[in-house]
Amino acid sequence: MTGSGPRKPIGAVALGAFLTGCGRNLPQSSLEPAGPYAQKIHSLFVPVVLIAAGIFLLVEGALLYFLFRYRYRPGRETMPRQIHGSPRLEIAWTIAPAVVLAVVAVPTIRTIYELAERPTDALRVRVVAHQWWWEFEYPDLGIVTANELHIPTGRQILVELESADVIHSFGVPRLAGKQDNVPGRTNFLVLQADEPGTYPGQCFEFCGLSHANMRFRVIAQTREDFEAWVRAQRGPAAEPRGELAREGSELFQTVGCAACHAIEGTPAQGVLAPNLTHFASRSTFAGATYERTARNLARWLDNPDALKPGAKMPDLGLRPDQIEALVAYLQGLR
Ligand code: CUA
Repeated sequence: MTGSGPRKPIGAVALGAFLTGCGRNLPQSSLEPAGPYAQKIHSLFVPVVLIAAGIFLLVEGALLYFLFRYRYRPGRETMPRQIHGSPRLEIAWTIAPAVVLAVVAVPTIRTIYELAERPTDALRVRVVAHQWWWEFEYPDLGIVTANELHIPTGRQILVELESADVIHSFGVPRLAGKQDNVPGRTNFLVLQADEPGTYPGQCFEFCGLSHANMRFRVIAQTREDFEAWVRAQRGPAAEPRGELAREGSELFQTVGCAACHAIEGTPAQGVLAPNLTHFASRSTFAGATYERTARNLARWLDNPDALKPGAKMPDLGLRPDQIEALVAYLQGLR
């Protein structure tokens, strides 16, 4: 009887979790801040962790020392001196932690206030969380999109967080902290990127079956590139090109897609699901979980639930030729 029981598998899982921290490709590492707001959090995190680590080593070191020093040894009869209460020691270990907490509180409270400041000239984005995708609306630009949040670099972005159903949490670790999307109220978060790039984010609050598939990307662009994106997004949807795409555009209005999705300039004005006006300008779909390839789209239209468990998009029972036409249409919506 080795007595290992469930210990081996638990140990293996713990080791696996520990080793994942050593990966090289960590796109959501908050230890690599890519903007001033993430930097503020990082600058608080590091000293607090170092202080905590120092205290941990001190306390555990003392514990191990005493365990070892006064362990039972055969032949040693004398007991260490027994102490019952020591006011001086007790005062010391009450005051020391209080001082440490007071020291840590100063930068903590300052950072909390700095992060809670609402900038007045920021670019506003309304972020509505849905099971299981993200809606991004730019109220001052007249743009509605999904799952890919474009922002200009070097500018504060005020994201106003709402929810269409349950509690979600919006977080982009390299650009800002995270904040809950709570039904019936509006929270906010400020983020800013220094350099152009793609910064992955995801939902950080368990919100149902496809919580893990509720991802998004923040795409930071130079001012010129962002303005070009804005112009393209404000333009009308592309006309379908070719017989197959035209067929797809008709199917879109008749087989059920239009009940939930909107495509500006067409009768489709649904608001329950992502706005698809410029669908093909995005590189992903379905909660930014899948690359927008013809193959993935065909699989998605055939059986949404297989790609995103619990997906609110119904299986419309489409025939393969209908799927092909719809994919041709969607892939042309640049
Ligand atoms: Cu939305 Cu988890």
